Amino acid sequence: MSHKADNSFFDKKRQWSKRKDVILKSYLTPYISKIATRSDPILIVDAFAGPGKFSDEELGSPLIICQSIQEILSRRPSLPVSVICVEAEKELYSKLSGLIEEFPFAEAKCGEFGDYIEEIEEKARNHSVFLYVDPFTVEGIEWDRMDSIFQHLSVSNMSIEVLMNFNAPSFVRRGLAALKLAIPESDPKIEDTEEIDATIITPPSINRLNVVVGGDWWQAILKSSTGFPDKVQKLTNGVCDRLSQRFKEVCQHPIKALPHHTVPKYSLIFGSRHSDALILMNDAMVKSRQMLAELAKPKEPTLFEMRPTDLVPDIEELPPIIIEHTSCPTQRGVVILDIIRKYFGQFAFKEIRGCIEQMLKEGKLKSETGKVRINDKIRIVTVKK
Ligand SMILES: C[S@@+](CC[C@H](N)C(=O)[O-])C[C@H]1O[C@@H](n2cnc3c(N)ncnc32)[C@H](O)[C@@H]1O
Repeated sequence: MSHKADNSFFDKKRQWSKRKDVILKSYLTPYISKIATRSDPILIVDAFAGPGKFSDEELGSPLIICQSIQEILSRRPSLPVSVICVEAEKELYSKLSGLIEEFPFAEAKCGEFGDYIEEIEEKARNHSVFLYVDPFTVEGIEWDRMDSIFQHLSVSNMSIEVLMNFNAPSFVRRGLAALKLAIPESDPKIEDTEEIDATIITPPSINRLNVVVGGDWWQAILKSSTGFPDKVQKLTNGVCDRLSQRFKEVCQHPIKALPHHTVPKYSLIFGSRHSDALILMNDAMVKSRQMLAELAKPKEPTLFEMRPTDLVPDIEELPPIIIEHTSCPTQRGVVILDIIRKYFGQFAFKEIRGCIEQMLKEGKLKSETGKVRINDKIRIVTVKK
């Protein structure tokens, strides 16, 4: 599949790609520290690796991963961690393998992600696996084959996690073309028009798209009479629903080119069986949202926050949300987790915990120990007036 993005993508890293990197980097270090408490060896897979570095010297995902691991290994040299980076384009592979040579724990593989799924699936039997799936558009994703890795979650207690760039706008455009339905003109008011799939060479096929998302469920969404942004969101939700069949915790985060866009470039979708992982990923995605909010900051300071709450959530909303979750005595950790699940990407862990502490101080909540400084196991409840 040839795509416009192939030619220029690695010249200069775009600001939205940087937000994706922030999420990967912010998550990886605490993830590895947490997962290292299990004795299993750790495998990080960069399934669509790219060349490792952009022409403007910005690091690509393989180097972000390898440098994070090297940093951890400098403190814990015996940690059993390895990295596999897969790249299909020979030229990019050769740059990649030259760059990651210096990391003895990393291996570059030339070929398609699909060629290595069996090998990764084998490793998932006795390794903790973190799979990073970052294709251009949706080409190269084969749901059922990827699911052969995830299926271990149902039969073992191994840790398997996935962070996937899912390009729903591209899928919807391809799907509409395949179904011979009208494709909406790209609209710069609601989306970035730079890399719209106008240049797809291979004609989209229904079968191929079924393979990408593991079934034909997407067709009903595309045939419905809703608008393009709604189709994009429903499709992304559909992918999350499918992942939820394997992973207890699934979340999504839109990567938008500009703050006012209603259609993202793509969404990052994360699946894990661990609630701790969801908390870490929430914090990483809060950071990304804050970077996007910076782009919308007015040049002159204003008295009130003028940016919409999806960019800058109102922290004043947090106390009533906490009250809602503490009508009966509930462990603090459960309260925080439930709020993160329901208001994903809005409030960081520390903000929620800090707000609970403040409410305990002010007597709006009480803890079962009667103390303000408590741990996650201690139950808290709203003080009825
Ligand atoms: C979006 S880029 C990855 C960027 C990289 N993750 C980064 O942040 O630096 C997608 C890469 O996947 C490669 N690719 C395309 N199809 C592939 C496949 N089936 N398997 C593995 N790599 C593939 C492309 O050549 C391209 O380098």
